[in-house]
Amino acid sequence: MRVLHVAAEMYPLVKTGGLADVVAALPAAQADQGADVRLLLPGLPAVLDGVDALRPVLDIGSCFGALRVRLLLGRARASGLPVYVVDAPYLYRRAGGPYQRAGGEEWPDNLQRFALLGWVGAHLAADDADAQWCADIVHAHDWHAALACAHIADHPATPVGSVFTVHNLAYQGLFPMHDWPMLGLATRHMSPAGLEYHGQLNFMKAGLQFADLVSTVSPSYAAEIATPEFGCGLDGVIRSRGAAVCGILNGIDLEVWNPATDAALAVRYDAARLQGKRACRSALQAELGLDLDERALLVTAVSRLTAQKGIDLLLAALPTLLAEGVQFALQGSGDGALEAALRMAQQAQPGRVHVHIGYDEARAHRLIAGADAIAVPSRFEPCGLTQMYGMRYGTLPIVRRVGGLRDTVRDLTPDALAGGNGTGFVFDAATPQAWTEAVRRAAALKAQPEAWQRAMQAGMARELGWSGPAQEYLAQYARVAAAAQREPQAPAG
Ligand code: ADP
Ligand code: GLC
Repeated sequence: MRVLHVAAEMYPLVKTGGLADVVAALPAAQADQGADVRLLLPGLPAVLDGVDALRPVLDIGSCFGALRVRLLLGRARASGLPVYVVDAPYLYRRAGGPYQRAGGEEWPDNLQRFALLGWVGAHLAADDADAQWCADIVHAHDWHAALACAHIADHPATPVGSVFTVHNLAYQGLFPMHDWPMLGLATRHMSPAGLEYHGQLNFMKAGLQFADLVSTVSPSYAAEIATPEFGCGLDGVIRSRGAAVCGILNGIDLEVWNPATDAALAVRYDAARLQGKRACRSALQAELGLDLDERALLVTAVSRLTAQKGIDLLLAALPTLLAEGVQFALQGSGDGALEAALRMAQQAQPGRVHVHIGYDEARAHRLIAGADAIAVPSRFEPCGLTQMYGMRYGTLPIVRRVGGLRDTVRDLTPDALAGGNGTGFVFDAATPQAWTEAVRRAAALKAQPEAWQRAMQAGMARELGWSGPAQEYLAQYARVAAAAQREPQAPAG
């Protein structure tokens, strides 16, 4: 089975969130299971620098407003997987983020930038892009890659299956309808049955409507996005796809996130040698200038700062919880008002609160290893990875019962405590009160060291890797590919 993953980011080269982690780890796990897997990424500077042995495959010429576009092929450094790169200097070679300028403003030519990516993805499923290889399955991730699915559906002569994974339905890729001519897609799709969305053009819809299979990153989120509450205006489209929508829970990279080998940590540890975790905790408190308080419940959060993540709940409850002896160490960036409020919280009580506004991979590892608990109080969460990183590091997650958080964390109810299979604290309402109660439950359990250690070890023993999910995707691909082969071919000539 030849599989092409199309995405805008891949850890460690380009990362704005969990999508990059998934795009690095899932293809590698599928390759381990025998699939012939390749990736397609936009030629952002970090991708051109970080993919090894790049060589030209095809001169595409001028398109999507770019004068010179080339298809290159190289290898990902970590996994060794083949990576195609769309080199379009005019569209991709620039300083700043993959979607935004350094200041946070969307790139004004994102339509062309991601229309090109999807279009090349579709061509790699036909045999006109690389004479040596073409995909049986194109797996497009999020709106940035979604156009591939529409192009593939438009080419019945190409017997290829398409899978579209929604990592976050809130980011849809909306553009003015009058920019349609730049898309390079047949005008018949200029309708609500195609890409039109309330008078705008919606990239996400290209994946939702045209992929053979739509997946999302947890079973609960798959059910949630079929409802108006979580459907971001697209729940009707999701419902219309019926059984073509499924949820496959993300895994985590067990090598990148391994407390027994993690080079970022002061001391390495595992479930049998938890004294190393205590050393990481003291080292973290010292590094961050927090009081060296043994008894405090040290809660971390490593997160984008957006309304999705519920950081405002945490801020609202902060005075109460600090007064009860809790410590907080947060790292994140995003919304300016949240950043400012977090900075003020640190200034008010630097011995109890540490805030690092910014992005730092190694520090994220130290925070997750050193804290007692990790907060993910999200309003919605397609999957969420940091609660799983927490479990892997013996750091108990405190999460809202929503999306992938619901599917990954088992609440430490009295029954779960007795059974030794609870892994964290789960709360329901998106309110500071419900969050506060959950943190209080965590603080109370921390005061019972044996029970706390059992919960840590239950989380550390959880099977969180990618092999199961990789297999599930491969099984779905097989079904999709078989159906694509059976579909009637367009008459020749
Ligand atoms: P999302 O993709 O919605 O942001 P996830 O939990 O799936 O949420 O993934 C977030 C990823 O980004 C994790 O790998 C997390 O460690 C990382 N991350 C988020 N913010 C930061 C930060 N400020 N510094 C380092 N890593 C971060
Ligand atoms: C998105 C979601 C997050 C998920 C990640 C990887 O960014 O917000 O919940 O874990 O994608 O699938």
